[in-house]
Amino acid sequence: MDAREILSKLTLMEKAALLSGKNEWESRDIPRLDIQSITFSDGPHGLRRQEGAGDHLGLNASLPATCFPTAATVANSWDPQIGEEIGQALGEEALAQKVDVLLGPGLNMKRSPLCGRNFEYFSEDPYLAGKMAASYIRGIQSKHIYACPKHFAVNSREYRRMAMNAVVDERTLREIYLTAFEIAVKEGGAKAIMSAYNEVNGSYANENKHLLVDILRNEWGFDGIVVTDWGASNDHVAGVKCQSNVEMPNPGLDSARELIKAATEGEGRITEEEIDRAVLPIIEAALYVRENDHKKGFDIEAHHAIARKAAVNSAVLLKNDEDILPLKSGCKVALKGPFVDKPRYQGSGSSQVNSTKLETVRNVIGNYDLQIVEDPGEADVVLFFFGLDEIAESEGADRFSMDIPEYQIKELENLTVYNKHIVGIMSAGSAVKMPWLSNLQALLHGYLTGQAGASAMLDLLTGKEIPTGKLSESYPFAYTDCSIYNYADQEKRNLQYREGPFIGYRYYDTAEVAVQFPFGYGLSYTTFAYSNLTVTDKDVTFTVTNTGNRDGAEIAQLYVGKKESGLIRPKKELKGFAKVWLRAGESREVTISFDDKTFRYFSTRSDQWEVEGGTYQIYVGANVLDTALTGELKIQGTILELPYDIEKLPSYRSGQVHNVHYEEFEKLYGKPLPEEKVGAFEINDALCQMKDSKSAICRLVYRVLKKNLDKSYEKGVPDLNTMFVYNMPFRAISKMSGGMVSREMVESIVTIVNGHFFRGLGGVIAGFFRNRSANNKYEKRLYHKE
Ligand code: BGC
Repeated sequence: MDAREILSKLTLMEKAALLSGKNEWESRDIPRLDIQSITFSDGPHGLRRQEGAGDHLGLNASLPATCFPTAATVANSWDPQIGEEIGQALGEEALAQKVDVLLGPGLNMKRSPLCGRNFEYFSEDPYLAGKMAASYIRGIQSKHIYACPKHFAVNSREYRRMAMNAVVDERTLREIYLTAFEIAVKEGGAKAIMSAYNEVNGSYANENKHLLVDILRNEWGFDGIVVTDWGASNDHVAGVKCQSNVEMPNPGLDSARELIKAATEGEGRITEEEIDRAVLPIIEAALYVRENDHKKGFDIEAHHAIARKAAVNSAVLLKNDEDILPLKSGCKVALKGPFVDKPRYQGSGSSQVNSTKLETVRNVIGNYDLQIVEDPGEADVVLFFFGLDEIAESEGADRFSMDIPEYQIKELENLTVYNKHIVGIMSAGSAVKMPWLSNLQALLHGYLTGQAGASAMLDLLTGKEIPTGKLSESYPFAYTDCSIYNYADQEKRNLQYREGPFIGYRYYDTAEVAVQFPFGYGLSYTTFAYSNLTVTDKDVTFTVTNTGNRDGAEIAQLYVGKKESGLIRPKKELKGFAKVWLRAGESREVTISFDDKTFRYFSTRSDQWEVEGGTYQIYVGANVLDTALTGELKIQGTILELPYDIEKLPSYRSGQVHNVHYEEFEKLYGKPLPEEKVGAFEINDALCQMKDSKSAICRLVYRVLKKNLDKSYEKGVPDLNTMFVYNMPFRAISKMSGGMVSREMVESIVTIVNGHFFRGLGGVIAGFFRNRSANNKYEKRLYHKE
């Protein structure tokens, strides 16, 4: 039977049940028609497959899997081939562990350096993020596994991520926040996509018609499954109407009942045809993945080697005074810093992998021609392994600052008393402040290297390998320099993206704000020169020469700008790149083709992509601030009428968006900005807002949560469940409780929060019994137990 035939045989009850999960990790099965469950699993840089009792954030251990470097790390390789190799390995491990849909890669834009999940995302640039994500997806799906890029869309902070509204103007939405997803869908061919927790312009991502129907399905032609983030469904009926397919994890049968009621009673909020349209891709997915042969294991050593290769190719050499690196053979080194024995190689949260093996510097140093001394004063070079602590890089919480912890800086300063030749090896999945940089003679930034990081770093330090990575994000001097600094108000539901398109280098470059290290920056043990730029209407061609005496690779970058423009425009935008491997002294001609994204902009006047006519500046070079070659190209535009009068948007025109006034942002936004809600609590308010509850019990619950959270900060170890619950809305209680709590019960809980204890409690108790009996009845009929 094909999917349509199966669909025609399903009852409404069965169809409604298929649209939400059966447990933490599986969709529902319908044995009568041989529809099998689909198994989902994190994650983006290694499997987190729980056997037996699964739980959302991994209190129960997962099966051992290879921990590859995280997305933030691999993006620095600028090498889609490596992304594809990692993807293939992930696909093989998914097959071996009976996983059908791999929940990754993550490709949200790095709007702020403080987002706790930046380590899981590729870049501040949508083009680079999209190309890397597409490569992972191709790799994963080549093994007959569905990839599920996430979190669609505009999920750029963790604090109150399930109870916030990203207020972003349409052009910025399209060009900055959606372009990477567009590439992931169109070029990667993603078969699944995960809808985000947050609202986008007033409507939850999972029920956002503009995102899911107009753009994802209609414009990009996506025909796979939309899976909600865990607990991200708000109004299930609205979600299904927008062709969201699987509500995860397991809301019990409450959601299914809501759907049946909406289809059969009263106003007819949804039709059975609309339900059918959402069910079909699930049946297709179940049929597709059931062909998989799960008998094969995977090659632990081969995958470890891929993780090592990826870490080698992604590390970025940021400083190397007097060519202290590579270390001379036989060199006396002292190993110092907190990560010598206890590496930080991945982040915390749903992406955390139980690695098949884990290298430490101490364990692998014997494989290299180095002499180890204890006393830093006796060493030729001190190797200082340091970086962000675990608590700084976790799902569910953002960082408070860009600082490296004080105790590490003290240790570094103390080392300088004994030795001036200190090489820092940094582990951090996000940009940090570097006021301590002058204490280091060299800095190798490994990011979060995955399980084979120790040998990867030593390969580079000793010159067995050569650094080839470049930064996929900017390193500002301080958080106060970021364009979003004044708009990151933590307490508000409506988070205004007032900086418009000017995030990352788009801001620093345009507004001429000096940075510690620019986007695209990275050194090597050799040097490169650029020459001979030719620009045609299809591509750019130029020559790169390795001018040093070692073989190596240069990441050449193409940027495009337009000085004379009637539009808001960053000075330069990345439109292409090429990683070029060259022997010492070798020259090569490199061509980078233009594509549909090179000159386009999204017009809010015509509601489609357009090209502004005129002369464009073409820049080619080593990073966004070092573009050795420049040229020009005249382009015929598609439309004469521009979307707005740029004179009325002075901050955006100059890129000086640090202090955009409400009124100017409202002009860009094009309609009245949403007001903050005041008054009684509603089901979509976050649990952390209970600090202002009228009920003493609820304030107590808040204090307990807050105390647990503070404790976890004191310990430096994230308490993932508390972080999740603290930020989640009341509504999610029903979505995450495995069917024990219904929406009706949540409404009664909110009555308690609003100070009506007895009324609320009565509702909770009555609702509990009603829900249990309705669930039982549904189960029986669904599985023909009566
Ligand atoms: C995360 C997702 C993850 C899911 C399942 C959510 O909390 O946001 O990225 O895939 O949990 O673990």
